[in-house]
Amino acid sequence: MSRLYGEKEDIDSEEVKNFFSERASRDLESDLSIVLFQDKENSEQRHIEEKKLFHEHIDVDGKKVLEVGCGIGRWAEALHNKCESFLGIDYTEDLIKIANNSYDFDDCKFQVMSATDIKEDELLIEPPFDVIIFSGVLMYINDEDIKVVFNELNKIGVEDKKLFIMEPVSRMGERLTLKDFYSEGLEADYSAIYRTEEEYRELFECLNYNKIFADDIFEELSDHSETHYKYFVIE
Ligand SMILES: C[S@@+](CC[C@H](N)C(=O)[O-])C[C@H]1O[C@@H](n2cnc3c(N)ncnc32)[C@H](O)[C@@H]1O
Repeated sequence: MSRLYGEKEDIDSEEVKNFFSERASRDLESDLSIVLFQDKENSEQRHIEEKKLFHEHIDVDGKKVLEVGCGIGRWAEALHNKCESFLGIDYTEDLIKIANNSYDFDDCKFQVMSATDIKEDELLIEPPFDVIIFSGVLMYINDEDIKVVFNELNKIGVEDKKLFIMEPVSRMGERLTLKDFYSEGLEADYSAIYRTEEEYRELFECLNYNKIFADDIFEELSDHSETHYKYFVIE
């Protein structure tokens, strides 16, 4: 049970999966609360703001979209009828079940698959993808594994793919890793990596891209002095 500053310490991916599985079985106010960690009202508000932000930056008209770590599938609700097709993959089976029960759109599919073991031939929507989304997911994936994921995306994304990445980052000039840390707010042991923006930019080097736009979001929602939310549009 630790809170580590600066050190590059791996977290256990299986424990993260168990954490989300367990949250899926809780009697929470809304499904959005499972993945957004806030009450119903704040989760709904945040979902609305994130959708708006996304559409300000990315036009999905006629595009194939892949969301890696899609959780309960809420981005399908934002994108269906706008994109050509949407595929959400996630390694937490209980969340994919919720996604399939909640969002039954012809142009959207959800699939149990780990980000670090993307099986190109088994994807329910055939690559290549034009737009790729990570929303609160890279924080649960270790550095070396992120490189594996990004290298795979270079294969299953089009040459001029766009990525929309939204993650909490450290504001302390060094990363913070929570490793099996008991969170009173979440009432569970919790593991996550809050990298610095510079560390993320270094990892993005694995992607073939021309430019990155980055900005802060949800300053008003943030009650954490050590971290804040940032989004990146990479193309
Ligand atoms: C905070 S939730 C965000 C869910 C969704 N992206 C959203 O914005 O609503 C993090 C999600 O990442 C998924 N996840 C974490 N590591 C993963 C991995 N290695 N492969 C697939 N999914 C992963 C979890 O199962 C969980 O659904």
